[in-house]
Amino acid sequence: MRAPRRRHRTSGGSDRGAFCPRDICDGSGYVLDEDTGAAVPCDCREERVRRRRVRALTSSIPRRYRDVGLERFPIKDFPQTVLRPLRKYVRELDENLASGRGLWLGGDLGTGKTSAAALIAKEASVRGHTAAFHTAPELLSRIRGTFNENSEHTYLELLDQLRSVDLLVIDDMGTQQTKPWVLEQLYVIVNDRYLEERAIVMTTNLSEPELSQQITPRVTSRLLEICREPVTFSGPDYRRLEVLGDSGGEVDAAPALQLAELTSN
Ligand SMILES: Nc1ncnc2c1ncn2[C@@H]1O[C@H](COP(=O)(O)OP(=O)(O)OP(=O)(O)O)[C@@H](O)[C@H]1O
Ligand SMILES: [Mg+2]
Ligand SMILES: [Zn+2]
Repeated sequence: MRAPRRRHRTSGGSDRGAFCPRDICDGSGYVLDEDTGAAVPCDCREERVRRRRVRALTSSIPRRYRDVGLERFPIKDFPQTVLRPLRKYVRELDENLASGRGLWLGGDLGTGKTSAAALIAKEASVRGHTAAFHTAPELLSRIRGTFNENSEHTYLELLDQLRSVDLLVIDDMGTQQTKPWVLEQLYVIVNDRYLEERAIVMTTNLSEPELSQQITPRVTSRLLEICREPVTFSGPDYRRLEVLGDSGGEVDAAPALQLAELTSN
């Protein structure tokens, strides 16, 4: 325990509802050292930084997936073939991120891949790692946006951010455009992280050969080495199931087609 006599709270005047979770400082994250008169970081600072990180990441996870949890629907209902490797990856998350080991979440439409990816991002951030969550198309348009004159970040700033974050989640890999410029950017992002031994968690509807064709074998090969063997989600499209109910696969072709159109990008 700290000796409280040697330190006292900095002036509480500017305190706007902030408080110290350790009840040491005035909520500013600093305390005055009586001997030197200098402001020194309070014990709560680390926790504050961590919370800020969680908040920043949380805002990048789409609202629909913010409340995911291992013990909550739908993840708790995932088949063991998916749940086992997912739990293992999360259990060993610190080691995985330290060694740049990612996870490839592949498989059918509406089977929980994005839910799993959001869970990993959340868990990483709760454990004090930095994480970013992007869909592939959104990430590419963000990069394109940096070339606008009044862009908040420069291209190099964004690349640096994508390179340095402990965990990068790329959702819906393979659904972005395949123009040479786009593929080049994708290569830069993946290769940077590959070289730096930093983890990527990605989701895709495509099989490995299909993804190879879509985003080039060079990018896919690096993703495979980062992520190792894909975790394969399969089963019904749970979105569809929710709307149309379980009719044992005997559904009219017409509504199925309409839904397929609705859900395709
Ligand atoms: N195993 C499951 N049991 C019940 N509901 C599930 C299951 N998996 C996913 N869902 C539900 O299905 C919907 C789609 O989940 P999610 O978006 O995570 O799937 P996805 O695999 O990322 O889909 P897509 O390939 O279209 O991106 C969500 O509403 C989710 O709650
Ligand atoms: Mg998804
Ligand atoms: Zn404090």
